[in-house]
Amino acid sequence: MDAFAYTPDLHCESHPLRHLAERFGTPTYIYSRATLEGHYDRLAAAFAELHPLICFSVKSCPNIHIGRILAERGSGMDVVSGGELHRALLAGTPPERIVYAGVGKTQTEIDAALRARIAYFNIESEPEFETIASIARRLNIRTRGALRINPDVDPRTHAYTSTGKRDSKFGVDIGRAVRFFETYGRDDFLKLDALHLHIGSPVYEVAPYIDAIQKALALIDKLAARHFTVSTLDLGGGFGADYETARSPLAADYAAAIVPLLRDRAAKGLKVILEPGRSIAANAGVLLTRVLYVKDGWGAGPDGAPVPKKFIICDAGMNTLLRPALYSAFHFVWPVAPGPNFIPERRAQAQSMPGLERCDVVGPICESSDFLAKDRFLPPMKQGDLLAVFTAGAYGMSMASTYNSHGLPAEVLVEGASTRLIRRRQAIADLVAPEQF
Ligand SMILES: Cc1ncc(COP(=O)(O)O)c(C=O)c1O
Repeated sequence: MDAFAYTPDLHCESHPLRHLAERFGTPTYIYSRATLEGHYDRLAAAFAELHPLICFSVKSCPNIHIGRILAERGSGMDVVSGGELHRALLAGTPPERIVYAGVGKTQTEIDAALRARIAYFNIESEPEFETIASIARRLNIRTRGALRINPDVDPRTHAYTSTGKRDSKFGVDIGRAVRFFETYGRDDFLKLDALHLHIGSPVYEVAPYIDAIQKALALIDKLAARHFTVSTLDLGGGFGADYETARSPLAADYAAAIVPLLRDRAAKGLKVILEPGRSIAANAGVLLTRVLYVKDGWGAGPDGAPVPKKFIICDAGMNTLLRPALYSAFHFVWPVAPGPNFIPERRAQAQSMPGLERCDVVGPICESSDFLAKDRFLPPMKQGDLLAVFTAGAYGMSMASTYNSHGLPAEVLVEGASTRLIRRRQAIADLVAPEQF
């Protein structure tokens, strides 16, 4: 499902990652255009019967060059801030393909989105509706709103990325939705004619989507009985990416569950919006990092007894890729040049090959949560070796920070025969510039 392959050392499309490290340095995010486009196309094909507007979720991979590739393919954008709106517009996204979610839109951001003439505000609360409507009236700009409903569905994912349960801050309790339409559904400037859902991310089962969509459809009927027309249903994002091995359903599996629920309604004119991020971008990127030091340490064996382990200290850490520290997320990590005995056929096999060493792959940050992988078995590593952290194209660079005053990494795009720097490495001078008046 991606264009990163060992032939015999790791290549992105036809480019050895070793060469990319020499040319662009490390740590660097490397993206494959073919993989990005392939995932977008598979998703679009799987849902084609619904003719959805696919709005790529900018937060997953905000680089404007990535956005431009998708916008050229017909994608819209899902944004959650003025910064993301700006990026979506710079990427060339037509404003009528931009939807804007998020519980904390500021007046300045709302103003900018109204002036840009975006398609939908995904509305997260009553006071937010009133704020957007009043700014729209003042600017004399008519716009449209989708009520983000909280369907009280358990997506069975990490608590921090679960967004559709009753106790979540997102959306409006579905039990309050009819009242919401009765209060606000006749506004002239903010026309409320859509529903929005986003239940969590990543969601590895189709059942929570079925549950949430059925609740939304029942609500649409209830609203219709009260003469409120819902013309658009935005299903949000959350489709999984293959971090491990074949754990996640494919786009076609999600579509097989979702399309039959919406087929008839779509045929009668219901417009469907999807907001995928991770399922398009995650496997299109790896994080390339160099080993700074290897040192001996101790871990705990299955019986709790101390066992020797290596700390592989890299130039990338939680500042570069936060997901392991924040969510205990799994990313497959493997050397770029593992040697002939260590080229696994499948990722799962990589943990059981003879000659491997128990390792923690860690970064330079002064926190014990600063790790990329814990208690993994890797071929013997040495100073200067390169490691690839896979499935890092989504929520990788977008969550990177300058903690401990390390500059942000570079981003490189591989496009067939050519490669291009799509974001230069942040220099120390860039870091301190805003403090030097
Ligand atoms: C409103 C909304 N839409 C879409 C997404 C994208 O989710 P994913 O990248 O899992 O597809 C998110 C992610 O948090 C979100 O909050």
